[in-house]
Amino acid sequence: MAHLMQMNSTDKLWKDLTFDLIALGVFEEPELTKLGQEVDLAIGGQITSAIANGDIKGKAKETTIFFAADYRVLVVGLGKKEKFDFEVVRRASATVTRMAIEKKYANLALEVFGSDVSASQALAEGVIMGSYQFLNYKKEDEDQFELVSAVALNADAAGIEKGSKIGVAVCLARDLGNHPGNVATPTYLANTAADIAKEGGMKLTVLDREEFTEMGMGALAGVAQGSDEPPKFILLEYHGGGTEKPVVLVGKGLTFDSGGISIKPGAKMDEMKYDMCGSALVLGVMKAVAVLKPRLNVVAAIPSTENMSGAKAYKPGDILTAYNGKTIEILNTDAEGRLILADALAYVSKHFDPEFIFDFATLTGAVLITLGHIATGILGTDDELLDRVKKAAMVTGEKFWELPLWDEYCEHVKSKIADLKNMGKTRQAGTIAGAAFLKEFVGKDIPWVHFDIAGTAWSDEEVPYNVKKTASGAVVRTVLEVMGV
Ligand code: BES
Ligand code: MN
Ligand code: ZN
Repeated sequence: MAHLMQMNSTDKLWKDLTFDLIALGVFEEPELTKLGQEVDLAIGGQITSAIANGDIKGKAKETTIFFAADYRVLVVGLGKKEKFDFEVVRRASATVTRMAIEKKYANLALEVFGSDVSASQALAEGVIMGSYQFLNYKKEDEDQFELVSAVALNADAAGIEKGSKIGVAVCLARDLGNHPGNVATPTYLANTAADIAKEGGMKLTVLDREEFTEMGMGALAGVAQGSDEPPKFILLEYHGGGTEKPVVLVGKGLTFDSGGISIKPGAKMDEMKYDMCGSALVLGVMKAVAVLKPRLNVVAAIPSTENMSGAKAYKPGDILTAYNGKTIEILNTDAEGRLILADALAYVSKHFDPEFIFDFATLTGAVLITLGHIATGILGTDDELLDRVKKAAMVTGEKFWELPLWDEYCEHVKSKIADLKNMGKTRQAGTIAGAAFLKEFVGKDIPWVHFDIAGTAWSDEEVPYNVKKTASGAVVRTVLEVMGV
């Protein structure tokens, strides 16, 4: 849990605070804010000189540091004024925390960049997300350093508090993703759900192998057969909205995906510890719901198991029967995510009368080929709901791209001997085939969007608020935005 647990705000004057680093923002064609002018005066006009002689240009990612007797000043570039938005603020505040970690400055003060108090939430999100490190297993590293405090000046206190809580929820999703498969087991996910349930006054139900098999979840049971690690079907219910229909969130909790009998190649197989990032995302959202307590009803469902090749493992050619009675011919045991989600989607469709369903899964390698690590693939049955996701993304700065779910593609997952088969045509439209399969398990007329996060759940892209090659916690913020939290 190596990240700031909160950002604070203060009405005090900067002169009356103690900090190791104070951060100021400047646009291109730099002009200092009122606070900036005061700090500049206190350090003998160095910032004005640096602007005048062109050392500070205000370009995005630019950082310039000045040294006073007992603190430092960091001037961070915000880019062109016309391009200013919350994402600029998030990236700039995360740039500040990343630099502070690198230089070991523990206590930070930041102005709200762009002098826009409505950006306070984004400022805090960037600070918390940018403070994240995964240090749990670095026992002998003497270089370890964690930030101690961050305070916002001239901010909207409520915005800082909210952004800070959302940032912490994103960090929870990251931690779950980053823990290895021998730690973050289905049991571990269930225990995390229990903590969240307690914090948020939610109802928790955890079904074990025997129970969900008995109930008819033949697809989840089939995948779980190859592993001795106890699988779980986890349900979390939050009631904050009276009699309204609940928002339902389903997350793939595949805690290690070896591919099963259709075993994966060895290279990068370690990354398949991230195959539970859909469930981590859902738990991240529920964590934020637990502390922000919005006036709505939310149900989270997490089918969780390993995909292994033990003696009882399911095999290519097997036929499984899902919770809604549909039969599935298994052609590749590595297409397991859609199977465990099938039962979860059918279960929530039947029991919760959802306002809408979102499911989140590291479902296909194909989405990485299509969109790289930049955007999450989305597909669904309801244009209005898809639009809500796209609109929310404009606020959160996360990227989504819709792929078509036309009838022609839905034919790709029809089987000759069963209702469905668990893969489409080889090397064709793999991400769409995944969604086409899932669609068969979503109740008729329930608006639904599937999020394929296989490219965005972890990343090799450099973003100030993400640490490369570790879990990103992507999409948590956008889901909260769609729900109006
Ligand atoms: N968990 C994988 C998808 C994945 C691959 C995520 C690489 C992130 C990086 C999923 O279970 C899987 O193996 N999908 C197969 C499906 C295929 C067999 C139809 C895939 O994408 O190759
Ligand atoms: Mn797989
Ligand atoms: Zn998988």
